[in-house]
Amino acid sequence: MSDVDLCNREIEQRIKMITSVVYSESGGTYKTTLTANLAVPLVRMGLDVLVIDLDPQEGNLTSLFNLGEHRSDPEADNLVKHILEMPDGPFEDLIETSDEGVDVIPSHDMLGDFTSNLEQKISYESGMKNIDADDYPRYELLYRLLWEKENLNEKYDAILIDPNARAEDLLYNAIYAMRTLIAPVKPAGKGSLSLDGLEELVVNMQTNLDIEIGLSCVVPSGVRRTNAHKQYLRYFENSDAFETPVVIGDRESMMDDMWEARGSAFKVIEERWKTIDDDSDGGSSKPGVRKVRDREVDTLVDLYRLAAFVATDTFGMDIEPVLELDFDGQGTRTIDLRDQEAVEVTET
Ligand SMILES: Nc1ncnc2c1ncn2[C@@H]1O[C@H](COP(=O)(O)OP(=O)(O)O)[C@@H](O)[C@H]1O
Ligand SMILES: [Mg+2]
Repeated sequence: MSDVDLCNREIEQRIKMITSVVYSESGGTYKTTLTANLAVPLVRMGLDVLVIDLDPQEGNLTSLFNLGEHRSDPEADNLVKHILEMPDGPFEDLIETSDEGVDVIPSHDMLGDFTSNLEQKISYESGMKNIDADDYPRYELLYRLLWEKENLNEKYDAILIDPNARAEDLLYNAIYAMRTLIAPVKPAGKGSLSLDGLEELVVNMQTNLDIEIGLSCVVPSGVRRTNAHKQYLRYFENSDAFETPVVIGDRESMMDDMWEARGSAFKVIEERWKTIDDDSDGGSSKPGVRKVRDREVDTLVDLYRLAAFVATDTFGMDIEPVLELDFDGQGTRTIDLRDQEAVEVTET
């Protein structure tokens, strides 16, 4: 499954680059949270990172990072227009940069109508050129845009996509262009989960599109200390069907405060954002208040370790293995991934 076809010219060309879809069959598996929390450590490792947000729904990465001012303006140029080869302006103008240094192609409402727009293009072009609509390469459009037209391999070290799992055309375009998946999973029921759907999707895509798709790793998140969850973890530890470099615990408070900090968990902890339950509606949130807790800092280290795993183990890149954390007025910590336990080296 993870065999990379080195004979493939395109893959060879961008082999020293991270290209991954953060894929999950079901919603609410902390996909967007994970995408943001992977993108930021990759930036801090010294990489140029682009995230493409293909989810037009509320609560997407674009709104998490407080970007996409024009996402509801049908007149505004957006990624769909570029994928369908009807751009209103240069591709670069689509890209916005979050204040943590992550480049983002923001979501746009038009992503919700992608398939109907694509169908129009296909019926028009197949009519004009007198070809069979079924032969139209409907899943290859994003690939062509990113790699053949815009040559993004020359501009970025990493591209992550946060897709909309239900929109098949866009999802398949994403997977066709990226070729590698990172799969967040969440404990469900009695610690069971469905990775069958993932395997089925990968096998189907490989067969139908004649490409190789790799699974970088599975990332269990929201794991608690209950017996059911422990059982679930054992399942992962005992399976060698996939890599599980880290397990992210239940960190609801920290992850929810990402929506207040408008950034990653790194921003929450370093700027010390905290939601205070006062008289105002839903409480108020501000920086400089949160206590620095070891278990939350440990989660940041795990996220950094995960990003390092993706960069090095999956994609064979060189990265900066030292993470400097600066907790607003509460000292700093240096974490070196080369130390076996990744313990802190200095503390002030
Ligand atoms: N490790 C975690 N533990 C507890 N809650 C989490 C965790 N990660 C994310 N969340 C919360 O879960 C909610 C949904 O996450 P999100 O990433 O938007 O899911 P998805 O993109 O898969 O729909 C958010 O409110 C987020 O703060
Ligand atoms: Mg999401």
